[in-house]
Amino acid sequence: MIREAKLEDAQAIQNLICFYSEDGKMLFRTLAEIEENIADFLVYEKSNEVIGICSLKFGWDRLVEIRSLGVDPRFHRQGIATKMIQDSVERALLNENCDTAFVLTYAVELFTKFGFQIVDKMELPQKVWNDCQACLHKDNCDETAMSLSLLPLKKLPLKNPPVLKDSGEVLYS
Ligand SMILES: CC(C)(COP(=O)(O)OP(=O)(O)OC[C@H]1O[C@@H](n2cnc3c(N)ncnc32)[C@H](O)[C@@H]1OP(=O)(O)O)[C@@H](O)C(=O)NCCC(=O)NCCS
Repeated sequence: MIREAKLEDAQAIQNLICFYSEDGKMLFRTLAEIEENIADFLVYEKSNEVIGICSLKFGWDRLVEIRSLGVDPRFHRQGIATKMIQDSVERALLNENCDTAFVLTYAVELFTKFGFQIVDKMELPQKVWNDCQACLHKDNCDETAMSLSLLPLKKLPLKNPPVLKDSGEVLYS
């Protein structure tokens, strides 16, 4: 089940972030930072355990960033990240002040399935880079910037975000 995070989830969220930040797959965040921004986080809960996390940062020039997406390795390749991205896109579609979702990621294939396209990192607003100062790879960023325009999707029913078919076609159903 995906739900909005509560303050008492902060430690579980940080555990996953710490796990993935050790080798630079995710940006490290202190417990205090997570608690302060708990309203941005979604968690995937299974049997009362947080096994997936994701955060949605609104407020940059009509952009929303999907960040800190991570799934407990015991539960990889079970579609959990897919569900979290789907839920995030639906939340972004509901936000009137947001036209584009973007992500800096190593999981290009995963985001491509939702219609995200690779963009030049330099197209992202400068404010996005403030966070990068804390990243292990800040001087040699090897993440891929991807974005998804929400405008065409806002005209469609919310239930089904776009899906990339084997043919390479993005289907908006
Ligand atoms: C990337 C990550 C979030 C994927 O989580 P997940 O729940 O296992 O992903 P899903 O099961 O929804 O996978 C959906 C698709 O993504 C792609 N994918 C997922 N993990 C992949 C991997 N390790 N290598 C290549 N493709 C991968 C595949 O296309 C997969 O579809 P398939 O299983 O039908 O082949 C997870 O591996 C993770 O936590 N990684 C470390 C943190 C990270 O890199 N986060 C991304 C930063 S935005």
